Amino acid sequence: MVERETWATRVGFLVAAIGSAVGLGNLWQFPFKTAANGGAAFVVFYLIAVTLIGFPALLAEFVVGRRTRRNVVGAFEDLGGPGWRVVGGVALFTGFWILSYYNVVGGWVLRYVLGSATGAYFDDPGAYLSAVASGPEAVAAQLLFLAMAVGIVAMGIENGIEKATKVMVPSIVVLMLALAAWALTLGGAADGLAYFLSPDVGSLVDNAWTVVPDAVGQAFFTLSLGMGIMVTYASYVGEDDSLPVDGGVIVVSNTLIGVLAGVVVFPILFAEGIDPATSGPTALFEAMAAAFASLPAGRLLGVVFFGVVALAALSSAISLLEVAVSYATDNTDASRPTLAVGAGVVLFLLGLPSALDTGEPGGFSAWFVWFDAIAYKLLLPLSVLLVVVFVGWVLGRDAVAELREGSPGSDGLATVWLWTLRLIVLGGIIVTLRLGIGSLFLAEDAAFFAPF
Ligand code: PHE
Repeated sequence: MVERETWATRVGFLVAAIGSAVGLGNLWQFPFKTAANGGAAFVVFYLIAVTLIGFPALLAEFVVGRRTRRNVVGAFEDLGGPGWRVVGGVALFTGFWILSYYNVVGGWVLRYVLGSATGAYFDDPGAYLSAVASGPEAVAAQLLFLAMAVGIVAMGIENGIEKATKVMVPSIVVLMLALAAWALTLGGAADGLAYFLSPDVGSLVDNAWTVVPDAVGQAFFTLSLGMGIMVTYASYVGEDDSLPVDGGVIVVSNTLIGVLAGVVVFPILFAEGIDPATSGPTALFEAMAAAFASLPAGRLLGVVFFGVVALAALSSAISLLEVAVSYATDNTDASRPTLAVGAGVVLFLLGLPSALDTGEPGGFSAWFVWFDAIAYKLLLPLSVLLVVVFVGWVLGRDAVAELREGSPGSDGLATVWLWTLRLIVLGGIIVTLRLGIGSLFLAEDAAFFAPF
């Protein structure tokens, strides 16, 4: 077994974890899910879900990782015995599942950076999207994106992930702030912000049932939970770091960047007269592209916007790849680069259906939608549920002891955390899972059977 690396600095860990959290989930899914769920009301549920459910669950993953310093499967085995390996196994599986199609979208984003620079989509954004979204070009772009992630992970924790994210994350923040400042000067700014940020209480109440599962799923996805990522990243953290403080910094930064994404996207859509409610997953690409095509300095703005999205997607993809590589390095003698390439090959093959399926003409790949629905509605909540049951009810007081390590004076808070995990988080996930399974398997047009 190769010796285990650690983060060189605490900031290194924080930045890498923020890099993992900030990704397509914030910059692409959050705006379009907000739009699909009626605007600001969704934002309210999302913020509640992040604070009450996501944050405590994040700390649960940290506790498991730091206590054991092992990969995600080994960590649960160390703490709970061989039977609990299954929790790590589900997380590993969920991560691979998600990364398989995440890479495909990562590939699209790279194409849009290029397309902005050359102006390739300026004449016909719709046609460009259909050419890029699926088929051989999508496969090639997916491969390029994956190769970049594999390259960084192959270089290791300190020299690869830590160094890369230290450049990427600050760039994301600066460029997003610049884009937001510019978006606020557009004619659509006031309407866009109102749509995004002033919730209508009536629609909050009416839609609670359908919005809750999406909001909770989004909270897990955006905080990189349920995929073993935060367990793995915390396994390289020292005993004198305060997990609640680090977790708080990560949650707040991630949320602010998500909100910033809305502040960029909605004014642009409103300025261009594009109805956000019609901008589904691909439509958001198309709408943003259409906006850049008609704006002065559109090429530059397009390169910056899609460039930020590409950086964010890449710093997330490497965190997921690291979960698999860390598992393999703990269990074999093969070198890190070999293992990174091996994981990349598996992911490439898994992503092929999403990259190849053309779906409806000009529409969204059917396989892609299927992969995404299973991830959101079933795998993520199930995986987080297992972690929460384990940490809350099996580890219990040991988990509290680990959380307090490195944060003196947090005794009372740690106990509040445990009970939040045991009751609120658990209850919230069970409701989410029940609703998700309903729409996957039991509803008319059940999503699970859709692509067959
Ligand atoms: N938190 C990431 C995001 O918001 C989710 C993610 C992480 C997805 C790693 C894939 C890989 O995009």
